[in-house]
Amino acid sequence: MTKKFNRTLVTSALPYANGPVHIGHLAGVYVPADIYVRYLRLKGEDVIHIGGSDEHGVPITIRAKKEGVTPQDIVDKYHSLIKKSFEEFGITFDIYSRTSSEIHKKTASDFFLDLYNKGEFEEQTSEQYYDEEAQMFLADRYIMGECPHCGNPNAYGDQCESCGTSLNPTDLKNPRSTISGATPIMKETKHWYLPLDKHEGWLRQWILEDHKEWKTNVYGQCKSWLDMGLHPRAVSRDLDWGVPVPLPEAKGKVLYVWFDAPIGYISNTKELLPDTWEKWWKSEDTKLVHFIGKDNIVFHCIVFPAMLKAEGSFIIPENVPANEFLNLEGDKISTSRNWAVWLHEYLVDFPGQQDVLRYVLTANAPETKDNDFTWRDFQARNNNELVAILGNFINRALVLTQKYFDNKVPQIHELTDYDKETLKEFTDVKAVVESYLDAYRFRDALKEAMNLARIGNKYLADTEPWKVAKTDMPRVETILNIALQITANLAIAFEPFLPFSAAKIRTFVNMDNLSWNQLGRVDLLPVGHQLNSSELLFAKIEDETIEKQVQKLLDTKKANEASVEIKVAPQKPNVTFDDFAKLDLRVGKVLECTKVPKADKLLQFLIDDGMGKRTIISGIAAWYKPEDLVGKQVCFIANLEPRKLRGIESQGMILSVEDTEGNLSLIQPSKEVEPGCQIG
Ligand code: 2FM
Ligand code: ZN
Repeated sequence: MTKKFNRTLVTSALPYANGPVHIGHLAGVYVPADIYVRYLRLKGEDVIHIGGSDEHGVPITIRAKKEGVTPQDIVDKYHSLIKKSFEEFGITFDIYSRTSSEIHKKTASDFFLDLYNKGEFEEQTSEQYYDEEAQMFLADRYIMGECPHCGNPNAYGDQCESCGTSLNPTDLKNPRSTISGATPIMKETKHWYLPLDKHEGWLRQWILEDHKEWKTNVYGQCKSWLDMGLHPRAVSRDLDWGVPVPLPEAKGKVLYVWFDAPIGYISNTKELLPDTWEKWWKSEDTKLVHFIGKDNIVFHCIVFPAMLKAEGSFIIPENVPANEFLNLEGDKISTSRNWAVWLHEYLVDFPGQQDVLRYVLTANAPETKDNDFTWRDFQARNNNELVAILGNFINRALVLTQKYFDNKVPQIHELTDYDKETLKEFTDVKAVVESYLDAYRFRDALKEAMNLARIGNKYLADTEPWKVAKTDMPRVETILNIALQITANLAIAFEPFLPFSAAKIRTFVNMDNLSWNQLGRVDLLPVGHQLNSSELLFAKIEDETIEKQVQKLLDTKKANEASVEIKVAPQKPNVTFDDFAKLDLRVGKVLECTKVPKADKLLQFLIDDGMGKRTIISGIAAWYKPEDLVGKQVCFIANLEPRKLRGIESQGMILSVEDTEGNLSLIQPSKEVEPGCQIG
């Protein structure tokens, strides 16, 4: 029995606000979601589309550290950039909010407490790496060491980027904290776990039995997770960026980003509809659909539904039409390697051509398998399909009407068999496009919409009204009436896919309100109806333009290869001279140097700084014997806020350089100078 729904709640994955969005995001999640909600709106259905930025998690704290700013600075910057990109590409959210909002923090915190009070969590204590110098537990990405598989000395606690192996932090040889350089120790920590194993029974029934219609890539991934057996998952982390765990004994702990992010869908609905949000989340006649990429499947099909079920009053998704990945010119899209077509850059290079990208990304969407975006394919689809078929047909129909009938819809006379055949063909399109859209098959739906333009194009090519005009004007009237009806239909059929072009077509044919239900009608434009002047919908893209884009990628590749060879860190953003001048850098002379007890990385220096003596702790014990340093000159930051390391106050920082293997060496002036001399 198919369920009857009265409204549709569509969510799109909340992108991490730690970088701009690229074509992979659009193709995987946001264009399909937007097509779907535009289609439902055009049908007059009750639908809302919820989006927002995911502003927590370790990658954001790492980016902040790298750039020397706060995590809030990072998310503020990228949230605005991402939101703007979505607006510019016509992705129509009813709300695009953020998980650093107060309403979200409260909603996520209350959700946790509710499950806690219902006894839905298990508490577990485990040992995790802890940095004694920085006095913090280390997330996997904050630990580096030697890869046990390939020997790369700079592997991360979760993955070796050299050989690609997934790792646990304890797999690394000689682990070190990327925060302080210290060797981390194992320390006990308590966390709250969602016992997914207890939810396995109903999840199996719900997905594997009741939702066999889910896309095979989604169903398959869920089945393999379920067949491997589910285990409790921690929903908290030792981190200082996120929603604090709302328990007195949880100081320094926050909700795991994957616990709070999906709750963001709920918080954002609340923000949008403070009085009626519950209708959307708690009524059985609401259809909940999550648009996501394949790396998010387990969280949306298993973890989040388990959270919602544990709470008890929420509905769970009806479908999760996840896409696979889009590659770029044969390589995985990568933010860190700058291997992407960034949306904000596309708009600079292709102003006003959002629909071209929407078209190409839908025609080539990674719906069932990973797909490749190439600039040549982009050009071919624009020139051979958008320009040569859709644009060409509409332009001919409108220009001929202008020429022969002063831009008024002409009469229809007797129909030939060919006319009837053509009309029949295009009235059938609606049912086919609908069936594809209802099944989340957007590529096929687009193909069918394009087919309508193809029918029109062929009709004009076959009937040749420009020739008939010499002998039989009533026949030309009929032909152009049919061509104009097809044009108006195209404005409806393409609205979900190419909203900017559809709006233009509506203006050309002077019809504001066209609804999906009118699709296929042959009398959309009444006889005598006045049309507006028109312009070309799409422009040919020249080889030169494409070559520039290809060159841009080749340059990126070269830069990446060079930086792999010399393994240097990317340059940090510029600072002003005034900012630089705030640092008081000086030369000092080492008077004493000793090891700090029970801290293998640390040396304690007593420095003659020209004004007196000061103590500085430095993490370079692995590379120097303390006695060798006495009498040497060192460079140091004199006005760094003092901080306590192992109970000793460090009054500054000694400057050293890290080579490509991670070894430190002290920086010294090339000629001896008086202690206290300033560097600058
Ligand atoms: O993979 C990602 O980009 C995540 N930020 C998606 C989160 S989706 C949802 F749960 F918020
Ligand atoms: Zn490795």
